[in-house]
Amino acid sequence: MDILKIRGGKPLQGQIRAAGAKNAMTKLLVASLLSDRKCTFYNVPNIGDVEITVNLCREIGSDVKWDKKNRTLEISTSELKTTYIPQRYSGSNRIPILMIGALLGRTDQDIIVPTIGGDLIGTRPVDLHIHALQKLGARIEYREMKKEGAYFAQAHQGLSGAVITLSYPSVGATENTILAAVRAKGITLIKNAAIEPEIIDLILFLQKLGANIMVDVDRTICIKQATQFHDVEHTVVTDRNEVASYAMAAISTRGRLFIEGAEHHNMIAFLNKLREIGGGFHVRSNGIEFFYDQPLRAGLHLETDVHPGFMTDWQQPFVVLLTQAQGVSVIHETVYENRFGYTHTLKEMGADIELFTQCLGGKTCRFASHNHHHSLVVKGPTPLKAKEISIPDLRAGFAYVMAALLSSEESSITNVDFLDRGYEDLVGKLSSLGADITRVTLKKGKIPLQTILHRVTDVDSTTPAL
Ligand code: EPZ
Repeated sequence: MDILKIRGGKPLQGQIRAAGAKNAMTKLLVASLLSDRKCTFYNVPNIGDVEITVNLCREIGSDVKWDKKNRTLEISTSELKTTYIPQRYSGSNRIPILMIGALLGRTDQDIIVPTIGGDLIGTRPVDLHIHALQKLGARIEYREMKKEGAYFAQAHQGLSGAVITLSYPSVGATENTILAAVRAKGITLIKNAAIEPEIIDLILFLQKLGANIMVDVDRTICIKQATQFHDVEHTVVTDRNEVASYAMAAISTRGRLFIEGAEHHNMIAFLNKLREIGGGFHVRSNGIEFFYDQPLRAGLHLETDVHPGFMTDWQQPFVVLLTQAQGVSVIHETVYENRFGYTHTLKEMGADIELFTQCLGGKTCRFASHNHHHSLVVKGPTPLKAKEISIPDLRAGFAYVMAALLSSEESSITNVDFLDRGYEDLVGKLSSLGADITRVTLKKGKIPLQTILHRVTDVDSTTPAL
């Protein structure tokens, strides 16, 4: 149980190298299970979610060699040792559910996958995954077990291509369907698919592996059955979440930061909003430089959306940035119904934020007639004061780190393992930029009460998804 101690008030200055994307690498590992070929990955992020996924793959028979120093990873799965994902992976992250798609493609054996976890930012059902896989011919049901439930899946006769229309362009459901469709007989069409850069990275990898996949401008993805597979070398797309997070931290602290490897084409929506509030950036040939240029101005209306819109994962740190901008801004979260929980702590630190259940701004979203707080108004600039903080989820965690960097007093942050899941060497990177940040390992029996209470709440609210 570690704690981060942060004493802020200093501008972040310097240069870092962007890591490979968590939300690509974890899926690429699962995709490698589709065949017995050797897959070599470069730019592999050394983060908790990749560690969990590697363990998951080893569990079912993969041979993995991960050279963390050189960021390379080799994986091959000559045969499946088991198709039952152990129950201890229940609630670990969102990855186990994707195993169903990949394993249905690889084998006609029965598959068991425990209930999935992930950040508690909404109910996060998996109905779209299940319906799509069923349309391809799989039999899937959710069964209650002694302690927690699990998904039982099989396609003894193999899968067959189908036309699948997603009622919402879910990232995970699109990925699961693509994985299953690669080996399904004939042709599969996924309409209203998600086309996030990490999904395109998955498609690029699958094409090298032997798949034939086409992405149309109307968000239709067409997958033809693959019959031959090849060894693959693949460089993982850069993490646009990490890039945006550090960019916002640098600008909010009035600093200057060059992020080597930041990819312009995946950051368009973010850069537009940054420019609207006066945040500085220069796109260089090998990365992007971000800097404080002038007092930030608010007056922004921001709506999160699926790609190519402003991504929901940028929302939490962006709100911290807006606490430092002059004026009033409106945020409408349209992807998750419950992604504003972190604002209570920001308010205690001095932020001026009000939550609303209505859709504020341009459009009416799926949550319009529900009672979810999914719009907010933030007024700035407000100084933020230090606090003892417990992290509820990954991106809220970075938002809190940013908030702590804005106060010259010392904040202490618990539940640091959320950050470890998605940010590589956070302390090292921030320290190299001049931040006063240390990680303290608590001795047994010294866990703050607030952290324990938080954990208990987390466990209670982890309900099965079907
Ligand atoms: C992925 O989650 C990412 N996680 C999330 O990143 C990201 O926020 C999200 O995509 C959107 O970009 C990973 O890639 C591991 P969705 P995913 O399915 O696939 C609803 C981070 O911080 N939905 O696109 O789980 C769902 O409830 C994380 O790195 C259904 O209703 O997201 C949500 O409201 C957090 N039924 C919306 O769709 C379904 O079957 C988007 O979810 C599936 C989803």
